Amino acid sequence: MPSVLVVGGGIAGLWTAVRAAEAGCTVELVTKTELAEGSTRYAQGGIAAALFPDDSAERHYADTIAAGAGLADPEVVRVLCEEGPARVRDLIRFGVGFDRDESGLERGLEAAHSRARIVHAGGDATGAAIEAALVATVRRRSVAVHERTMLLDLLVEGGAVVGAVLLGADGTIVERRADRVVLATGGAGQLYLHTTNPGVATGDGVAAAARAGAELADLEFVQFHPTALAVPGTPLISEAVRGEGAVLRDASGRRFLAEAHPLAELAPRDVVARAVWRTMAGQAGAPVLLDATALGGKALARRFPGLDRIVRDAGFDWSRDPIPVTPAAHYAMGGIVVDLDARTTLPNLFAVGECARTGVHGANRLASNSLLEAAVFAERAARALVATPAPELPDFHESRASRDLSPDLPDVRESRASRDLSPDLPDFRESRASRGGGRAMDRGALRALMWDAAGLERSAAGLEAAASVLASWRAPEVRDRPSAEDRNLLELARRTVAAALARTASVGAHFRTDSVTAQIPSAPFEEAA
Ligand code: SIN
Repeated sequence: MPSVLVVGGGIAGLWTAVRAAEAGCTVELVTKTELAEGSTRYAQGGIAAALFPDDSAERHYADTIAAGAGLADPEVVRVLCEEGPARVRDLIRFGVGFDRDESGLERGLEAAHSRARIVHAGGDATGAAIEAALVATVRRRSVAVHERTMLLDLLVEGGAVVGAVLLGADGTIVERRADRVVLATGGAGQLYLHTTNPGVATGDGVAAAARAGAELADLEFVQFHPTALAVPGTPLISEAVRGEGAVLRDASGRRFLAEAHPLAELAPRDVVARAVWRTMAGQAGAPVLLDATALGGKALARRFPGLDRIVRDAGFDWSRDPIPVTPAAHYAMGGIVVDLDARTTLPNLFAVGECARTGVHGANRLASNSLLEAAVFAERAARALVATPAPELPDFHESRASRDLSPDLPDVRESRASRDLSPDLPDFRESRASRGGGRAMDRGALRALMWDAAGLERSAAGLEAAASVLASWRAPEVRDRPSAEDRNLLELARRTVAAALARTASVGAHFRTDSVTAQIPSAPFEEAA
């Protein structure tokens, strides 16, 4: 059985690690911080699947295709929707206690779903419940977990991935060999000034894959969530709140979404986010208001206990008053190109979860499809890892690094790589010249630049100006985790801006103010239902 190195400790990485270990693989999982820290645990809304008698995989398929603004890959969407219910049942077996009412599983409605099909746990703590159950499952399997260990680069030999270069908890850089590497490193919300993502979301896997030569796609499709609380840190206010009946109002108290889409507050996320953005522009940047007062204090506290705490800690009583909300970067629809079994374009390299570009979301992801995507394609990855024949590379299985990994290794072991970089290793000690000349990059400036030029609305002029500023910045020398993250953010910012420049027409989450016609306009939602 192949040895497998999984990078990332969210739902996609944990799932793959569990299943690969069950299949008999030797599995190591590395994660940049603690296992539980990552976007999964912050997922509030829930997980969408056709589990109920009034629903079907066909309806879920139609909703996903319609939300994707014409660019979702039908074959991938079919796999997602058909295999989704079985993966939710797997989660129940893993120990996730989805919320129940007298009729069975409790379910919610979210934007652009034609049926209430979102199951949740702990009200708004679905991601945390999934993460906890999978972490407990990983701990029970023979998976060697190395926390505070960051991916720096992939090791490529003869065109195939043979392992990774890691930065360990003690700051040592080591080379780790494995027959398969699975990237499950999540998104890159930290590219943007305002994001719902945690600080770890710096696109490490996507940037490393790019440097190794893997194909990327759709980086221009960044999903902005319409309702982050307009306070520092912009915490997410779940779409499920609108699903329960909350409405959006402008500063004068007027509802404005019906003008943007017949489904008003429950229109696809890109439509709602843009309408919020424009309304804010029309009121000198002041946040719009999410009015959940009709739900009542008791219902808000019962259904959204985590949010109730967040909102009250920020000083608002949302049972009495509308709360200020703003869009924030939330999810990357693009990333590392993969096939239906999570294989990237590089042999032995797999990608699952948000870092992967399956094509399932097209230009705009349907709410609560992300946890489902992670589960469905991690399961398929785990099967393919075993099925994919090991490449016939000289000393591929024989290297010292792959032979003598003890299960209780210090998270990373100082290897030849850290003392004496061979010419084969990725050059993370590039010279100043190879990192680009000019000024050292500054993360805050990069995030502000991306927000202004590659945010909810883009134009050629703004993107070109951003591209030239980004080109003028020098990538940092990799010394520690922050500098490694900065290098990745700069890499992805440049690529995102280039992708946004290349797509000259507006579609889904990518909106060009200078495009004359929208490319493949969203199908009316009713048609799909
Ligand atoms: C939300 O709860 O609104 C976010 C869920 C998602 O991004 O799918």
